Amino acid sequence: MERTLILLKPDAVQRRLIGPILERFERKGLKVVGMKLMQISDELAATHYGDHKGKPFYDGLVSFMTSAPVVAMALEGNKAISVCRKLMGATFGCDAEAGTIRGDFGISNGFNLVHGSDSPEAAERELGLFFNEGEILEYGLIDDSWNAAE
Ligand code: RTP
Ligand code: MG
Repeated sequence: MERTLILLKPDAVQRRLIGPILERFERKGLKVVGMKLMQISDELAATHYGDHKGKPFYDGLVSFMTSAPVVAMALEGNKAISVCRKLMGATFGCDAEAGTIRGDFGISNGFNLVHGSDSPEAAERELGLFFNEGEILEYGLIDDSWNAAE
């Protein structure tokens, strides 16, 4: 079982796409174990995207991520990190395959609706940035036992 950080970015919230995007993750079988609407600070956005510091798009990315609320989600499931990245599609909607979130909901080569951790190390670091102790919950779902029986 893996956990990953998903952010519904300001464009997703502004375009009232929280529900349709969350549905993509839920219907795939991912379990929501943490979720909150947040207005993130410059510091948090800068730390979260710290690997991109110095790139031409970095300042714009930080100001975009702080321009309006985001929804932060901790999702859990089998291979959750790579499964979520596949559901999201390529970085920008103009390149992303139809059937993916970015491919179905956007065409921009700047705004792309959703963030997902790209490795186990990134997931651990990013979940720690967005969720405090006690905000990620452990609970069972009825199909957990069916999965275990496979
Ligand atoms: P994310 O981290 O948000 O899940 O996106 P990603 O892995 O698909 O893409 P990444 O290379 O990590 O880039 C992080 C975010 O920076 C913005 N970006 N803009 N203008 C540009 O060339 C450019 N390149 C990246 C996007 O918002 C991208 O999601
Ligand atoms: Mg990335």
